[in-house]
Amino acid sequence: MSHNFQITIDGPASAGKSTIAKILATNLKYVYVDTGAMYRTMTLAAKQAGLAYEDEQGVVDLLAKTVIRFEPGVPTQRVFLNDSEVTEAIRSTEVTNNVSLIASYKAVRADLVRRQRDIANSQNVIMDGRDIGTTVLPNAQVKIFLVASVLERAERRYKENKAKGMTVDLETLKSDIETRDYKDSHRAISPLIQAKDAILVDTTGQSIQAVVSEITKIIEKKQKP
Ligand code: DC
Repeated sequence: MSHNFQITIDGPASAGKSTIAKILATNLKYVYVDTGAMYRTMTLAAKQAGLAYEDEQGVVDLLAKTVIRFEPGVPTQRVFLNDSEVTEAIRSTEVTNNVSLIASYKAVRADLVRRQRDIANSQNVIMDGRDIGTTVLPNAQVKIFLVASVLERAERRYKENKAKGMTVDLETLKSDIETRDYKDSHRAISPLIQAKDAILVDTTGQSIQAVVSEITKIIEKKQKP
């Protein structure tokens, strides 16, 4: 078992996991690991290799040739695929709409989970995703399950898109989120579920600062029992 301090934040798409995790990691001086970015990068790697997303064996064969690396960056962590920066490219609608399929492949999960554990073994981490508290780091000292209503999550996406000059209507965003929730929580391997020992935090109607301070209190309690 690792002697590092591990904090896991799981929850559905757009619940605010990465926003909250990044702030907590900066405050605590922990390494932030965005595991969704790893599944997204693998999805982009498949596209760049000219593979069909349904070609499970092809995607699995690609794993060994795929290096995924994070670098600190402002305002967001930078992501590299085999030395090319893909920070922006992994957020495209095409990647977003296909990542659930790539993340459902058993061998893809096994490989990326191994990489995630390696990172968490050598340093204090705050790791966000869907299965971190249940599967990746089951012995983590602090586990948070972050949720928010579908409407609020769609509204957050809507504002983010608008700021980037993209207009996707709210109803489409709501249905995309519901589809992804369904796929993420009904897949056979490591579905999105709250770990028994995870603390539920509902961010609906709460400011970022309020959520950060609620979780900070939970962490401080565990650090100084
Ligand atoms: O958090 P995100 O939207 O960037 O995640 C992208 C996809 O990756 C999401 O649809 C589910 C999948 N994922 C996963 O299966 N397991 C994780 N630990 C993180 C993400």
